[in-house]
Amino acid sequence: MDKKIAIVTGATRGIGKAIAVELLKAGFFTVLCSKTLKSAASLENEILSFSGSFMIFPLDVSVEQEVRKLISSIAQKTKRIDVLINNAGVVFTGPIEETETEQWDEIMAVNAKGTFLMVKHSLPLMLRGSQIVNIGSNASKKGFPSWAAYCASKFAVLGFTNSLREEVRDRGIKVSAVLPGPTITDIWNSLDGKWDRTKMISPEVVAKTVLSVIKQPPEANIDEIDIVPSTGSL
Ligand SMILES: NC(=O)c1ccc[n+]([C@@H]2O[C@H](COP(=O)([O-])OP(=O)(O)OC[C@H]3O[C@@H](n4cnc5c(N)ncnc54)[C@H](OP(=O)(O)O)[C@@H]3O)[C@@H](O)[C@H]2O)c1
Repeated sequence: MDKKIAIVTGATRGIGKAIAVELLKAGFFTVLCSKTLKSAASLENEILSFSGSFMIFPLDVSVEQEVRKLISSIAQKTKRIDVLINNAGVVFTGPIEETETEQWDEIMAVNAKGTFLMVKHSLPLMLRGSQIVNIGSNASKKGFPSWAAYCASKFAVLGFTNSLREEVRDRGIKVSAVLPGPTITDIWNSLDGKWDRTKMISPEVVAKTVLSVIKQPPEANIDEIDIVPSTGSL
């Protein structure tokens, strides 16, 4: 295939969808991963104008068998991966004593283990010049009360990203962390509390930041980028 191949996890909504649209506009053949087939169907309708340049694949990033299946079908079709964007994520908030162990397990499984599994199985198809962007959060570097499980998972994403970068540097694979602050997406709908969306950035702003990261010249890498609302914290 002539086009460069990009994968975006959690591409049905919010930041992931905005990144996928930017990649399609930039001419990438884009593999959009969605957790459910139902969300895949509505996503397909929205990007029909890019017909022929994308593939939608149902994938729960926390299930290794599903990750293996995705990567082997990409291996058969395109034989390589140029850009991997690990974006899929979930959030739960609440005091630590009230956090269910299952919620802790799920947040770590999707946000942290999912990123590890995608990288582990994609690396064999990534050649010199390819790039990995992991979506962390401002919660990758700062703790917030009632956000302990989420912060733990996003600190894990940043720690993993920093180690991965050093591990694959000699193979010519670039690794970046993009750490958004509050962004207007559905993720806030399930959270208790009042969240002032006028003080949030748009998913499109985050997506354009990701594109600027992957468009750096070969000799340059943006290791880490914080993109936050100019109005300050919520
Ligand atoms: N919004 C913010 O303020 C903000 C700030 C900093 C960082 N982030 C991070 O940015 C990323 C995207 O967040 P968002 O705000 O765009 O969230 P969102 O609107 O809730 O979208 C989350 C996406 O992740 C997918 N997903 C959830 N669990 C999954 C799983 N097990 N396997 C595969 N896909 C899964 C969802 O798929 P379905 O549609 O199938 O459920 C959806 O496409 C997350 O990693 C989040 O932590 C968000």
